[in-house]
Amino acid sequence: MVELPGGTYPVVIDGGGLEGLGQAVVRVTASRRVVLVTNPVVGALYSASARASLAQAGFTVVEIEVPDGEVHKTVETWSRLVHALLDAKISRSTPVIALGGGVTGDIVGFAAATVLRGVPLIQVPTTLLAMVDSAVGGKTGVNAAHGKNLVGAFHQPLLVFVALATLRTLPLVEVRAGLAEVVKHGMIGDSTIWDLLEARGPAILDGTDREGLAICVARSALLKARVVSEDERETGIRSLLNFGHTVGHAVEAVMRGQLRHGECVALGMRAELRHAVACARSPVELVAAMDDLLARLGFPVSVPRSVKYSHLDAAAAHDKKRIHATIRVPVVDRIGSSRCIVVDAREVPEMIRHLDVAAPLERLKNAATTSETK
Ligand code: NAD
Ligand code: GLY
Repeated sequence: MVELPGGTYPVVIDGGGLEGLGQAVVRVTASRRVVLVTNPVVGALYSASARASLAQAGFTVVEIEVPDGEVHKTVETWSRLVHALLDAKISRSTPVIALGGGVTGDIVGFAAATVLRGVPLIQVPTTLLAMVDSAVGGKTGVNAAHGKNLVGAFHQPLLVFVALATLRTLPLVEVRAGLAEVVKHGMIGDSTIWDLLEARGPAILDGTDREGLAICVARSALLKARVVSEDERETGIRSLLNFGHTVGHAVEAVMRGQLRHGECVALGMRAELRHAVACARSPVELVAAMDDLLARLGFPVSVPRSVKYSHLDAAAAHDKKRIHATIRVPVVDRIGSSRCIVVDAREVPEMIRHLDVAAPLERLKNAATTSETK
């Protein structure tokens, strides 16, 4: 359960497919009509089973499609969706269901937050990333030319329905991208997740360890529910979930869809951790632990040479997490334990320069020692 002043909602984790969706939706709405929004890829795989389950539970279903892919996470797509919802004559009590990954969930969530000044939202995540992160917590939005997620709203769902069996069709590269957020959760707040990934990560990635995958989803949802319940609007502890995202979002903005969100977060975690070690805020051993786990999971370790630091600095300057000339960043003390500190925003370019992972561990060790003895 995510418990918030504005209401409490469940994150239901079902070991099967979407057969149980209709009955779960019945429990949270009195409406007899729902709008199902998905993209062509997910729609081809799952809209028939979602529709059938909703119809069986007594719902009339209106279906709307949004385009697939991060490049379509735009104000234009949001605008088209809002108009399609109005064409469908929805009322303020008609639930809008987002069926898909984080891109679909963020766009549909923002449309639900804004059309008619807000209609009920149900998240049905079908990627690992959306299950462990984006579907829970109420952040919705789209990108702007200036950067990632710069137009959006907090809009909590009525229900998050996770059907684990939908992961069976998810390509391995997308599972890996989702695992980046699971690695993040392990590092900032749950050493059991970390130990699980160290012991069983490759089998979780290739789909042979389904139990391990289910544990990752469940423990990540628990962690997110706990953090969001404590700090819905990110005035404190929720910033821990941004570990890897200050640098990651800059890389993602500059790469314009050529790297997945999770891949950028993995690069961001490496750089931010190295920076924290260089500032003597985190122990140096964490760098090897992070590098080893990410390498075993097959993450990219560097950005293409064509990417200029100046471009990354410019993208990071639009980070909405900035508070005047400062930024709140997570600092990991040990695996599974972290805290937030406020630093001068001029540190961000320094974090970005740690993307140069060729920068050897020795240099970090020296920097940490020098800084400790200052
Ligand atoms: P995505 O939504 O683009 O999904 C990846 C691909 O997998 C897409 O082509 C999608 O159609 C396809 N797909 C989805 N489910 C599938 C399935 N079961 N089988 C086969 N294919 C399937 O990417 P993502 O990684 O899920 O989400 C990334 C986005 O999430 C980014 O825009 C990021 O900013 C956002 N995000 C938001 C939050 C938040 O709190 N709102 C948190 C983290 C990330
Ligand atoms: N993905 C970070 C958050 O939800 O706060």
